[in-house]
Amino acid sequence: MTSARPLVIDCDPGHDDAVALLLAVGSPQIDLRAVTTTFGNCSVDDATRNAVQILTLAGVTDVPVARGAAGALDGVSTLGNYVHGASGLDGPAMPDPAFEVAQEGAVELLRRVIESSDEPVTVAATGPITNVAQLLLDHAQVKDGIAEIIFMGGSTERGNHTPTAEFNTFADPEALDVVLRSGLPVRMVGLNLTHQALATPEVVRRMAAMDHTVGQTSAAWMGFFGDSYNKVWEFDAPPVHDPCTIAALIDPDVISWREAFVAVELDGRWTRGTTVVDLHHRYAEERPNCQVAMTLDAGRYWDLVIEAIDRVGRRP
Ligand code: BDR
Ligand code: CA
Repeated sequence: MTSARPLVIDCDPGHDDAVALLLAVGSPQIDLRAVTTTFGNCSVDDATRNAVQILTLAGVTDVPVARGAAGALDGVSTLGNYVHGASGLDGPAMPDPAFEVAQEGAVELLRRVIESSDEPVTVAATGPITNVAQLLLDHAQVKDGIAEIIFMGGSTERGNHTPTAEFNTFADPEALDVVLRSGLPVRMVGLNLTHQALATPEVVRRMAAMDHTVGQTSAAWMGFFGDSYNKVWEFDAPPVHDPCTIAALIDPDVISWREAFVAVELDGRWTRGTTVVDLHHRYAEERPNCQVAMTLDAGRYWDLVIEAIDRVGRRP
């Protein structure tokens, strides 16, 4: 077996971010080195508390959690409480935090973990990508220590927060622009992919049938998240976006990819935050800068997620 991949997760938990964290800590292919938080689904303070509580639920107390951006690079704070509830993680009761948030901020923790690693670190971003952009702006030298950046955001198709913009990319388009122009290997997991990751009643039943709190809490998260998706977007089952980024790192065959030039709209009157994905090379002068997720093997995906949740829940 190859050694586990060093990973940092920058997130805004968030029900689907929570499942992404469980997938990471429950998968032997992943060596989670740090969790950093951002505004997004809720305030950064709520996201930070939620991240600590999720890791506490998972029995993980040795992965540092650091608080990051309270707003986008331009200072604006767009929140997604209309999907995730007042706390950002409404639904089942959560355990009291079993450890303290790191003294250092998110950018500093990311820099330290990347620079002290003996091998390149993968960065997964599942919220507005502000912290990662700030890291690249403040400490350009860390690029040498980053294996790739994989982010949940954007779409090859329509949006969700606005008709054309996905929430994470709408919340900080300037930050995504920094990442897309960084020259680093970047992978985009957009709505066109994550809308194939539906927590169907069968998926939720598999979580609820587990004989431990981690499985039952996950099922209850899907209940709250599913109700939001039904009310706001009339989905029958909620798309569980963020764990798709982690699944791609665990199993290279779970998602198929296309290389393309990707840009993000910064100026549009109605389209700010929209990703422009040039799948047919219409901008002849632009070189591909991104691998774009296209097709999900949903059966394989849910097996990875459910097995990881069960592994976490059964740990002594
Ligand atoms: C993204 O926004 C949030 O609601 C989710 O956590 C996900 O990261 C989906 O648009
Ligand atoms: Ca998220």
